[in-house]
Amino acid sequence: MSNTPRHIAIIMDGNGRWAKKRGLPRVKGHEKGAEVVREITTYCANHPEVKVLTLFAFSTENWKRPKHEVEFLMKLLEKYLKKELPLYQKEGVRFETIGDISPFSASLKERIEITKEETKNNEKLIQVLALNYGGRDEIVRAANRACKAGVVLSEDNFDQFLDTSRLGEADLLLRTGGEMRLSNFLLWRAAYAELFFIKTLWPDFTKKELENIIDEFKKRERRFGGI
Ligand code: FPP
Repeated sequence: MSNTPRHIAIIMDGNGRWAKKRGLPRVKGHEKGAEVVREITTYCANHPEVKVLTLFAFSTENWKRPKHEVEFLMKLLEKYLKKELPLYQKEGVRFETIGDISPFSASLKERIEITKEETKNNEKLIQVLALNYGGRDEIVRAANRACKAGVVLSEDNFDQFLDTSRLGEADLLLRTGGEMRLSNFLLWRAAYAELFFIKTLWPDFTKKELENIIDEFKKRERRFGGI
């Protein structure tokens, strides 16, 4: 059984609290969080075993946040994708998304498509942003696709209808910020993931900490239901 952290998935929590602790508006925490995304993506692209990094950037529930915060996150995302294109190219990162991006603005959707297209031949790492993503929503949309195709579902053939179809199982699922729940993230793909919950707030997270978590992951015994 494999102890290779091929697919790392992260719930990046704690941006708001990081900002509040400093007397800053919550959105400053998201801004700092975007810088950490850059550092962790670069680290993973240069890690010999990590091939997929899935980041929970906007959940189907995040629309409930104040309008100005939602708008800030959308703008930040667009700005981030534009700014980081040279990084994706330099570090060999292919950009992908999961989730239903149809409600996003035309300019953000266009930026997403441009970034996917421009990076489609990069091979060191796939960075997947989960955008307007919910694990239940992914499963329901997959079931509807299968229904439309007239396919009788099995555990094996269900895979092809999921947003996460090409990504493979999540091996290591990490949540920063101290909460110990999955919050509707990767429900199907994380069935056998090793779970890590740490107190560090996402804007304080470092590549050194990820390195330690990967070391810890390698020590765990993964049995996948066997003995
Ligand atoms: C959770 O922190 C974080 C989010 C809902 C958004 C994640 C976004 C980023 C890390 C920055 C932007 C990302 C990219 C890829 C540009 P929270 O606001 O729920 O924190 P809290 O629990 O302390 O309130």
